[in-house]
Amino acid sequence: KSNYLIAPSILSADLARLGEDVEKVLNAGADVVHFDVMDNHYVPNLTFGPMVCKALRDYGITAPIDVHLMVKPVDSLIPDFAKAGANIITFHPEASEHIDRTIGLIKEHGCQAGLVFNPATPLHYLDYVMDKLDVILLMSVNPGFGGQSFIPQTLDKLRQVRALIDASGKDIRLEVDGGIKAENIAEVAKAGADMFVAGSAIFNQPDYEAVITQMREELAK
Ligand code: DX5
Ligand code: ZN
Repeated sequence: KSNYLIAPSILSADLARLGEDVEKVLNAGADVVHFDVMDNHYVPNLTFGPMVCKALRDYGITAPIDVHLMVKPVDSLIPDFAKAGANIITFHPEASEHIDRTIGLIKEHGCQAGLVFNPATPLHYLDYVMDKLDVILLMSVNPGFGGQSFIPQTLDKLRQVRALIDASGKDIRLEVDGGIKAENIAEVAKAGADMFVAGSAIFNQPDYEAVITQMREELAK
């Protein structure tokens, strides 16, 4: 297996059969479960919380769970998600009053921590916390919905963050989220991403394995 991680977003899964669908996508070759938490406040949509994360663990899902918090405030949910079985917790810096404290809280609870940048969020939020991060997530759509189109300006931002990560010498994942599909994944990887969230591109197809295999073939090019 390559160093690339494919993280299907369960936002586009069959929510009435979530356990089965997540199992199916992992058996099809996915690496990580991307878990989108929306609060109808920070973003204009409402999804699921720690109880659903715990339910996936109880169902028997053992793959890493990557919790993408699109909520404000952030901190109160962190202990709950850690207890519910999250491995990675990412949050939007605009949604936290004390970014360094929130990162610390995630790590204290034994999870990997990440900052998420919306398409128009400047990278200066990285300035004093970069060495504490395990993941940097660049949104390639405005958060809130699956099935939107990749915003091309993200490519340049990915290149900038890739340069920062390489200069830091740290082992930081560069995750990208929004509008990723087999047709653009190679270009996005070339710009520096190494972890790819894909919701509609995978779950809206009947054969998950075919899509994931196609993505890996593109990544191997
Ligand atoms: C959007 C979410 C994404 C979403 C991606 O706010 O953070 O994870 O599910 O969906 P696609 O891959 O369909 O753009
Ligand atoms: Zn997401």
